[in-house]
Amino acid sequence: MLQKDFLSIAQLDRGEMESLLRRAIEMKKEWKEGKAGLPLAGKTLGLIFHKPSLRTRVSFQVGMYQLGGQVVYLTDAEIGLGKREAIQDVGEVLGRYVDGIMIRTFAHSHAEELAAHAPIPVINGLTDLLHPCQILADLMTVLEHRGNLDDLTVSYFGDGNNVANSWVNAAGVLPFAFRIACPEGYEPDAEILAAARARGAGTIEVTHDAKAAAKDTDVLYADVWASMGQEAEKAARAKIFAPYQLNAGLAALARKDHLVLHCLPAHRGEEITAEVIDGSHSVIYDEAENRMHAQKAILERLMA
Ligand code: CP
Ligand code: NVA
Repeated sequence: MLQKDFLSIAQLDRGEMESLLRRAIEMKKEWKEGKAGLPLAGKTLGLIFHKPSLRTRVSFQVGMYQLGGQVVYLTDAEIGLGKREAIQDVGEVLGRYVDGIMIRTFAHSHAEELAAHAPIPVINGLTDLLHPCQILADLMTVLEHRGNLDDLTVSYFGDGNNVANSWVNAAGVLPFAFRIACPEGYEPDAEILAAARARGAGTIEVTHDAKAAAKDTDVLYADVWASMGQEAEKAARAKIFAPYQLNAGLAALARKDHLVLHCLPAHRGEEITAEVIDGSHSVIYDEAENRMHAQKAILERLMA
């Protein structure tokens, strides 16, 4: 159950996840029809960024505006989380000024520590471990394009990173099949895998065979091979991950009506070819747009 914070997809139960997805689709429609309300009028969201961002920053900022609220943007240069000042003090003090915090940072434990001390909702805008807002928007996009999430198979190619871990969490909550094709040693987090499998809503298959993962799937998904903070490993990873490139050969094995998703930023010619990401199955820009509406559903749920 979502209590105060949204740090992980694993906090959700099936009913809550489905109602957030429904609400996100409704909020998108209401906004486009000029019928949206202002449930966060007068409220402020603090945005803490320790890593770069296009989508997360703009979608939270504009999303808050659409809900009637505003944001304060803070980088580590200002607050020096845990260095200039204890995380506890940052959380307590921000709680006296703002009504919620979104944090994008490296260590997931820092987001948890902030949430433990802030008397206001804390939302995970990406940590090294998880990227829950992304997967809400991804599922919303699949729901929009398919009409339902029944008998769904999602196949992810590449690193068992924050995005992959959040997909694993989602397969613990909703009944769909998640497959990840990754090199040996780059599997999703073992504890997250075990916990999601124990919840058992969906199924999770980890394979090193990209072709097997692509076969008859509904959704092909890619993310960068070197995440933010792993830039020094970029060249080494390019070699290791080459067999997992999402290209036309893999796409040909998927269902004829498959969707292509990528959380972006993307590197055409590396984890995904231009042909696939710019092809007719790709819904990447809807996916990016949906970040805003999915997050509005979260912001309304936690802050209204
Ligand atoms: N997908 C995503 O989180 O993008 P940004 O890093 O640009 O926020
Ligand atoms: N795994 C990527 C996701 C970017 C949105 C990263 O952490 O850099």
